[in-house]
Amino acid sequence: MVPRKLALSSLISKGRQGVFVFWVENVVDNDTTLFYDAVADDYHWWYRDWDTQLEREGLNLRRYFRDHGVQTVLDASCGPGTQTIALARLGYHVTAADPSAGLLERARQHAAEYEVLDQINFVQSDFQNLLNQVPGPFDAVITKGNSLPHLLRDEEIEETLLAFYELLRPGGLLLIGMRDFELLLEDRPRFWPGQVHDEPGEQIITFDIWDWDDGPPITVTLNRFMVRGDGETYQTSKRPVVFRALTAEEVEVVMSEVGFENIHAQHDRWERLMLATRP
Ligand SMILES: C[S@@+](CC[C@H](N)C(=O)[O-])C[C@H]1O[C@@H](n2cnc3c(N)ncnc32)[C@H](O)[C@@H]1O
Repeated sequence: MVPRKLALSSLISKGRQGVFVFWVENVVDNDTTLFYDAVADDYHWWYRDWDTQLEREGLNLRRYFRDHGVQTVLDASCGPGTQTIALARLGYHVTAADPSAGLLERARQHAAEYEVLDQINFVQSDFQNLLNQVPGPFDAVITKGNSLPHLLRDEEIEETLLAFYELLRPGGLLLIGMRDFELLLEDRPRFWPGQVHDEPGEQIITFDIWDWDDGPPITVTLNRFMVRGDGETYQTSKRPVVFRALTAEEVEVVMSEVGFENIHAQHDRWERLMLATRP
């Protein structure tokens, strides 16, 4: 199909004048499962209102799917089901993959609550193993919520986009939603506010402290803080998770080299949505 071996580093350096991103041997794979398993039950506190988010995700995705005859979707990083449940509620058949057993369990619980279990096929897999784990082809492949920048190595990113290509039917739609780190690389913010939830008898406050590392590749560790208390006494937890400071432009270059067509991007709140089709 598309067995070409890509050299993402050179593609990126070609695509971005004056910027050279390359892979060095001592960067290890980024295993995020411990982090996501640990936060699975608290994940929704990072949203102002998870139910509203669900509805917004569904309506937004349906808008993009409408012109592509989409019925079957692979959600390649489903997390607690933020997009998967929304799509299933709208009648799509979803294969929901994620490496975190904790988040998959959470997604299953949400699916049961919303009575859409029979429309979802849950699979425990990271991007790198998708080709072995899920039977394609799909009308659409999505990965939203800044999941792709968890891949630190050039090879992982190029192999993942090749896998997405292979898993789509001709004419199928790829949709990647991630933070465009290009906009943050200069200022390198350290503090990122989250939410304040006033629950009966409990206040829950979330925020992130970002630690930047020059790499290469440049990475940022998000230290996710959660402060819980009764209004007087509070307890704090801090959990770190690492992202590559990947830019939308870098991803678009790889999309194009993999063979995707009609590549275009849109802003969707804090995410950059990149869309493309398989010829
Ligand atoms: C911030 S969450 C986003 C989840 C969901 N899409 C959302 O928008 O709420 C990032 C997700 O990426 C997943 N993830 C991390 N590394 C991954 C990898 N190598 N392959 C696939 N998914 C990965 C995590 O398990 C987690 O579910």
